Amino acid sequence: MARGDWWRHGVIYQVYPRSFQDSNGDGIGDLRGITGRLDHLNDGTPASLGVDAIWLSPFYPSPLTDFGYDVSDYCDVHPDYGTLADFDELVRQAHRHGIRVIVDFVPNHTSDRHPWFRASRSSRDDPHRGWYVWRDPRPDGSPPNNWRSLFAAVGSAWTFDPATGQYYLHSFRREQPDLDWWNPEVREAMHGVLRFWLDRGVDGFRIDVAHKMARDPDLLDNPPELYRGRPLPSPRRDEDWPEVHVILRDFRRLLDAYDDRMAIGEVGIFDPARVVRYFGTSLDELHLVFNFSFVRQPWRAEAFRDAVDRCEALLPAGAWPVYTLSNHDTPRARSRYGGEGGLPQGEWVEGGMPPSGGDSGLGMRRARVAAMLLLTLRGTPFLYYGEEIGQADGEVPPDRVVDIDGRDPERTPMQWDGTPGAGFTTGEPWLPIGSEARTVNVAAERDDPRSLLSLYRQLIRYRRGSRPLLAGTYRAVGHEPGIFSYVREAGGRRLLVALNFTSAPVRLDAPAFGLPPTGVVEVSTDPDRPSGPVSLAPLEVGPDEGVVVAL
Ligand code: NOJ
Ligand code: CA
Repeated sequence: MARGDWWRHGVIYQVYPRSFQDSNGDGIGDLRGITGRLDHLNDGTPASLGVDAIWLSPFYPSPLTDFGYDVSDYCDVHPDYGTLADFDELVRQAHRHGIRVIVDFVPNHTSDRHPWFRASRSSRDDPHRGWYVWRDPRPDGSPPNNWRSLFAAVGSAWTFDPATGQYYLHSFRREQPDLDWWNPEVREAMHGVLRFWLDRGVDGFRIDVAHKMARDPDLLDNPPELYRGRPLPSPRRDEDWPEVHVILRDFRRLLDAYDDRMAIGEVGIFDPARVVRYFGTSLDELHLVFNFSFVRQPWRAEAFRDAVDRCEALLPAGAWPVYTLSNHDTPRARSRYGGEGGLPQGEWVEGGMPPSGGDSGLGMRRARVAAMLLLTLRGTPFLYYGEEIGQADGEVPPDRVVDIDGRDPERTPMQWDGTPGAGFTTGEPWLPIGSEARTVNVAAERDDPRSLLSLYRQLIRYRRGSRPLLAGTYRAVGHEPGIFSYVREAGGRRLLVALNFTSAPVRLDAPAFGLPPTGVVEVSTDPDRPSGPVSLAPLEVGPDEGVVVAL
């Protein structure tokens, strides 16, 4: 493949290291564990999932108040997860498996235990004071402005430090002080971090809250409506400041000095027109930008079609879409779609989704349709660990809760087999194993042609061999209620994808929108649907079925 193609055409799989595979019985996933499971991800045969890259959530030294998104040393490995040598071995083995490795880069904030912050808080005159955002209290002693943490439980984004009599800024927990990116020394130090990992052979970065690094240098108040639950107040002053694009262009230049590396940004802004600016005016910023619309919206064909059409319409020429169904910050797809699913559009708050409803198989059927959607759209699919088997959110009793923001259920251990530790650990797992692990697991699904895992393998393999899916155009067709259907086309080959978001059969009259009266079924989410020729006048799509038809 040509330069740059791997991140456009590949499927990228997110590993949450703490929960993927424990190799030493301490109940905590680790790097050696991941290395030992690479065959599941891609062993070069159709027996494996067939992904092209992994994104590792943070594995750096950290007090783990935000499970690694509070980094106390950017250039090492937390002892829970192993050593730098284990990391090098993971990269080596992954590359031998044809799997690229993307690591998480957390530039907006450090841990309060990071030596930079320890120094910074030690005195107003310390050389590191200006690496963080310190301000005097207002005359009445209150915080410098009205900014709030993105974690609802935290409240103000400012914490008073009595030792030096000033407040410091933290967009997340108080243990996660924000760096001051207006300071050139911060930029220089963080560039060194990027080089450190690039020189170790990583293929790219997922950039945490990439829109937050630059904010109003005058620290003026946010519009108060922002905190009264009104959607989309602007301008916001605590993120998405124009300077952030200068910072990202610098990152891009640094990456471009290496061969074929990439950066994808987490840009948690609701206005898609502002999100696409992160590609850069001449595509000189992020290679990819996450699109989170799917994780927030209800399971309705119209909502999904609108989200995709909006993305297609807004993307700058030459930019490439990204889709994802879930990650470590949102309930899992099967749980989300098994109930009502979807967050009301509004302010971005980490986690915080309503608990999911019951699932009588509906969530699993929808997870199959969602898999087909993810793998047949134009763009790079990101797949969160466990989604390939339809793992549901785990049940986490109150005395086992460890996350500040309600995100434990989507972080429970990967379910590998039906043993008590689910094949994840021989010890006591750091979060409880999901209650369904005896039946919903890799071992049980691997040899079952009707399983979700088999469908994922089939779709990923089919996608890999399909020009229309890898590189073709996208066009929504036939706006029938309840069904999302589109045509992908490249090099004279055309595919019709029809996804039924309802539990009733629907008919799609393809000739009515200019398509031929017959086609050939290539893949269906319904294992009982025969492949081969099929009438499209109309195409009968079963309840909760998705189907790919060659035209
Ligand atoms: C986004 C990450 O995905 C989330 O897990 C984390 O809590 C915040 N950023 C803060 O780093
Ligand atoms: Ca371990």
